[in-house]
Amino acid sequence: MSVVDEIKDRLDIIEFIGQYVPLKKAGRNYKGLCPFHSEKTPSFIVFPDSKTWHCFGACGIGGDILTFVMRRENLEFREALEELARRAGISLRPQTPQEATAHKAMTLLAEINDAAAAQFNHWLTQSNAGAQARRYLEKRGLNQESWGAFQLGYAPDEWHALEQALTAKGYRIPDIISAGLLSEREDGGHHDRFRGRLTFPIRDIRGQVVGFGGRVLDDALPKYLNSPQTPLFDKSSILYGIDLAKDAIREQGLAVIVEGYMDVLMAHQHGIRNVVASMGTALTEPQLKILKRLTKKIALALDSDAAGDRGTLRGLETAKQVLDYQAVPVPTSRGLVDYEARLDTEIKIITLPTGLDPDEIIRSDAAEWARLVESSLPVVDYYFQALTRDLDLSSSQGKAEAVHRLVPVITESGGAIEQAHYVQKLARLVKMDERALEKELGRTPRLRVTKPARKEGRFSGFPGMAIGVEKYCIFVLLQNPKLLGVMDGVLERANLAPLGAEDFQDAWHRELLARLQSLGPDEELLDLDSVEAGSALDTLRAEFSSFLQYTASLPEADLTLAASRCALQLRKAHLEHRLLELRYLNEEAQRDQVAEDRQRWMALVMQYTRDKGRLDEALSKVTVLGYRAETPAV
Ligand code: UTP
Ligand code: MN
Repeated sequence: MSVVDEIKDRLDIIEFIGQYVPLKKAGRNYKGLCPFHSEKTPSFIVFPDSKTWHCFGACGIGGDILTFVMRRENLEFREALEELARRAGISLRPQTPQEATAHKAMTLLAEINDAAAAQFNHWLTQSNAGAQARRYLEKRGLNQESWGAFQLGYAPDEWHALEQALTAKGYRIPDIISAGLLSEREDGGHHDRFRGRLTFPIRDIRGQVVGFGGRVLDDALPKYLNSPQTPLFDKSSILYGIDLAKDAIREQGLAVIVEGYMDVLMAHQHGIRNVVASMGTALTEPQLKILKRLTKKIALALDSDAAGDRGTLRGLETAKQVLDYQAVPVPTSRGLVDYEARLDTEIKIITLPTGLDPDEIIRSDAAEWARLVESSLPVVDYYFQALTRDLDLSSSQGKAEAVHRLVPVITESGGAIEQAHYVQKLARLVKMDERALEKELGRTPRLRVTKPARKEGRFSGFPGMAIGVEKYCIFVLLQNPKLLGVMDGVLERANLAPLGAEDFQDAWHRELLARLQSLGPDEELLDLDSVEAGSALDTLRAEFSSFLQYTASLPEADLTLAASRCALQLRKAHLEHRLLELRYLNEEAQRDQVAEDRQRWMALVMQYTRDKGRLDEALSKVTVLGYRAETPAV
C-alpha cells in the first residue's frame, strides 16, 4: 500500500473535512457549503465510499483528502502529505539523526520567536516603558484592534531586557542568538538586537513568527531593523501579512503588493485585506510563487517615479544578464514580463501619486485606494505610460526616443499576438507606419519553432487500461511531456476543455501533471531529481520508476495514439464518475422531495451526458488510420 493510500485509509474523510466544513448527512453521503466559493445552497458533497469530494456548484472542483488540504491550507503536495501523515500517525520514513536534530532546532527557534512576540506585545500594551510607543501608534492612526491582529510590540530601550525575559522562561543564550534576537559583540558579549523600537512580528503563510522588523519612534537611522538571516527567516521568501491576507487574496482573486509594514497595517485596518508587503526589497521569485498558489493576478504598487526614471532603461539591460538568477530585480519590464510568462501570472502595476505611500492614501481616503487599484495597468501598458511621460511625442526626436525605449519592452512581451497588439499601439502613439516599426522589431530573434521528424511506429494495441486510466495517462506523459499538447488538442476538437487537475482524482497524479505542465519549452523530460529531491515518498518513488521502465519500451507513434485515446478515456471516466454521483444525489433529492436540488442535478446530468456523447464520438474516430490522418506531428 502506498503512503497516500495508507493515509486515506487511516483518516476518516468525513471527520477530516468536517473540521473545516460543517457537513450534513444526506443519504450515504455528506453535504455542506463549498469552502472554495461562496454559496447559499450546499453543493459540496463528500463521498465516503470513494473517499473523494466534489463541488457541484460554481467552482466544480473536487479530489481526494490530499487535494482538499492542499487547497484549503495552501500547501504543496509534499507539505500536505507530511501534514496528513503526521495526523494519521504514519511516519513517512524514519528521520535520520541529523534531520531529527535539525527539526528540533527549528521548533525551538520558532518557540523562541513566539515567546519574544508575546513579550514585546506585553511591553507595548502593559508597561510604562511602552507609553511612548502607544502614543506613536495612535498618532499614526493605528487602532488597538490592529495592534492585536498583528501582535505589534515594543522593545524597551535597554540592552538586556528581552534576554532576561527569555532566559527567565528557560531559553538558552546560544539559542536566542540563533533566533536572531540577540546580537553578539566583538568582545564576546551580547545584547538585545531590538532596543527602543516598535516591533512587527513577521509570519509565514501558516502564521508562524519567523522574524521581526523594528521601527524607531523618531527619525533616527536606520528607520527599520530586521531580524538577520536565520534558519527560520529568509527575507527573500517572506511576504509581510501573508497569513492574514491569504483568504482575502484567494476570495478576491487578486494580491496587492506594497512596500512597507505600515502600508499593510493601514490597509488591513480599513478592511482591505488582500495586501501584503515585500518589505522594501525587490520582489523575488519565491515570493511570487507563494502568491501564485493563491491567485493568478498580482498588482504591484509602485512609486510614481520608481520605474519611470531613466534608470529603468539601464535596468532593462542588466536585467537581461541577471535573468538566470532567482531574484530578478523589480521594477524592470524584463523581469516582470519574464515572471508573467514563466509563472503564468498576470502582473499589473498600480501607480501611486507622487510622494504618497499606500498608508497615507488609505488613511485619508480608502475609496481613492480602490480607484487606484481599479486603474492598474498591465506591465507593458504601464511602460508605455511611464517611459514616455517626459517626451514630446510631437517632435521627431521625441518619437524616435519613444520607439527606442519601447521596442525592447515590446520584444520581450508575451507571444506574437500580444506583440502585434503593442506594435499597433506604439505606431498609433508615434503616428508612424507599422511596417517601419516591424523593421525595428525584426532585429530580435524570433521564437524558435522546432519540428521533430515524425517517427513511424506500428500500433500495438492499447495496453493502458489495466493499470487505471489516470495512472496510464501519467505514464504516457512522463515518457513525452509534449504529448500534453496532443491530449489537449484531441479534447479541443471534441469541444471540450483541456486536461486539468480536475481530470485526476489522485493528488499525486495531479502533482505530476502540474510538474509536467510547468516544464519549459526546452526541458525535454521530467527532471527526476526534482521529483525525488528530498522527498520522503519511498513507495511513490518505486511506482515512479516502474512508470518510466514501462513507457520507455513504447515506440513514439504508439504513444501519440495512446495519448489521444487516453485523454478521451480519462475525461470519460471522470464524467461517468460524476454521473454516478449525481444519480445518487438525484435519488436522494427525489426521496426528500427537494425540487430545487433535483433541478440542479438534472441540469448537470444533461450537461455531462452531452459531453459524454462528444467523447464517445471522438473516441470512435481515434482509430489507427483516422488518427494518423488528422493529428499533427508532435
Ligand atoms: P518605507 O521607508 O516606505 O517605510 O520602507 P514604511 O513602511 O512606509 O514606514 P513609515 O511609514 O515610514 O513608518 C518600506 C519598507 O522597507 C523596509 C521595511 O520593510 C519597510 O516597511 N525597510 C525600510 C527596511 O527594512 N529598513 C529600512 O531602514 C527602511
Ligand atoms: Mn510609510
